[in-house]
Amino acid sequence: MKWIHAISAFVVMFATMSALYNTWLPTNYKFDKHVLQELSKQVIANHPDGNATAIMNELAPRIKEAYPGLINDLNYDEWVYNNAGGAMGTMFILHASISEYLIFFGTAVGTEGHTGVHFADDYFTILTGEQRAALPGALTPEIYYPGDMHHLKKGYTKQYLMPSGAFALELAQGWIPAMLPFGFLDTLSSTLDFYTFGLTVWYTARDMIKHLLRGKF
Ligand SMILES: *[C@@H]1O[C@H](CO)[C@@H](O)[C@H](O)[C@H]1NC(C)=O
Repeated sequence: MKWIHAISAFVVMFATMSALYNTWLPTNYKFDKHVLQELSKQVIANHPDGNATAIMNELAPRIKEAYPGLINDLNYDEWVYNNAGGAMGTMFILHASISEYLIFFGTAVGTEGHTGVHFADDYFTILTGEQRAALPGALTPEIYYPGDMHHLKKGYTKQYLMPSGAFALELAQGWIPAMLPFGFLDTLSSTLDFYTFGLTVWYTARDMIKHLLRGKF
């Protein structure tokens, strides 16, 4: 009857994580989605041509100024592909800890797929281009433009599309380690791109451990 123990352990863990989600976990959050959206809007306004490089080059230091000690310097050598839910994009990790991550995510080429089901709330602020998304019963898409923030609530899923040249600032708050299998399984089941896999694990773990050692959960 070992499986009973495994199921019980899973149920207890899930119930504990759920109980902490609205109580203790948010006390660890450092980022404010509204501050990030406001900074994004200011920087977008400075670049009416919608140059994604120029926007991110200006936005990353502004975020770092607002959140000292939490943000990695933007480095185009440390962008990695992200394959998940059938969608493919590229990302740069500005911050990763156990309860939050902040990344630039987007695609020069264009992509479409499944958002994934997450034990986290996801705030996706469009910087350039647009994002389309729809719940299963929706026959017309939600459309998000630069400066708009798409909130994907914990446990919800949508189909989404980002056309060529769409980039966004993505904040996730919740149980981040529980999101990682979704981010990695396309590698094991499809792309077999272990180089990208290794880099992603390294960049994520490096940041999580650094912040944990400084007391940021
Ligand atoms: C976009 O901005 C970058 C960085 O400022 C610059 O190097 C590049 O030439 C710009 N691209 C266009 C098409 O203006």
